Amino acid sequence: MKMVLIHGDSLKVLPKLEQKVDLVIADPPYFVLEKAKVQEIAKKWDFFHSVDEYREFTIRWLNEVYRLLKDGGSCLVFWSEKHMFLFGEIVKQTHFKLHKTIIWHYPNVLKGFSSKRWINTFDFVFHLVKGNKPKVFNAKFTKDENKDVQIFPKPQCNFVKDRKWHTTQKPLELIKRFVKILTNEGDWVLDPFLGSGTTMLACLQLNRNCVGIEINEEYIQIIKRRLNWGSSLGNVEFKFREVEEHD
Ligand SMILES: C[S@@+](CC[C@H](N)C(=O)[O-])C[C@H]1O[C@@H](n2cnc3c(N)ncnc32)[C@H](O)[C@@H]1O
Repeated sequence: MKMVLIHGDSLKVLPKLEQKVDLVIADPPYFVLEKAKVQEIAKKWDFFHSVDEYREFTIRWLNEVYRLLKDGGSCLVFWSEKHMFLFGEIVKQTHFKLHKTIIWHYPNVLKGFSSKRWINTFDFVFHLVKGNKPKVFNAKFTKDENKDVQIFPKPQCNFVKDRKWHTTQKPLELIKRFVKILTNEGDWVLDPFLGSGTTMLACLQLNRNCVGIEINEEYIQIIKRRLNWGSSLGNVEFKFREVEEHD
């Protein structure tokens, strides 16, 4: 198996990649952290000057992952409710087809308790396909694996099995479910916004090859720690690349 970790900006790295992939899992910036209290986090990776800039950014990386996907390959995009209508508009400007809308429901509400407003407990996961339908779909329906509402708790700092390393980390078991359903062993998975490396860890545990990109040096170090980077794990080859601004 190959784990290829790239430190750089996806908009610059993706056009240089040649490896064709079977599945893309993308958890991009949500452009929701504009409030003053979270501006410091937002500036690191969730900042855009306008909706137009966010739209342009999304179209650019979607077009690149479309090029890298094999025919019938799937692309899962985590997305916020705030920009749900924008996504429909964006997909029309790409060659992708929207195959299904999945809801990831997290029952563990950790903050913002209030009786005066609705409390967020879900994110969208849009399932896009290159072609008419996914070439791989390995769900066990008897185990409810392919229900369009997927219920998994958000990682928390006090979880032993799925400890939280990143503000917007996704549950490892949710990502493993997607990888199992939409790929076979030995297939390639791409994650252009790795964060704490959940997709790469899922691939490592499920014998899939993975190429992942992360812009933030701090998270690169977290990914390496989380994956026990470079440890002699049987047939796993770990490759790390830095892609500088001027590359
Ligand atoms: C929503 S988080 C991903 C969290 C991840 N799914 C996890 O489970 O940890 C988005 C990540 O994308 C990274 N990012 C933002 N813009 C990027 C870019 N242009 N290229 C590469 N990474 C980027 C951010 O640093 C952030 O870690």
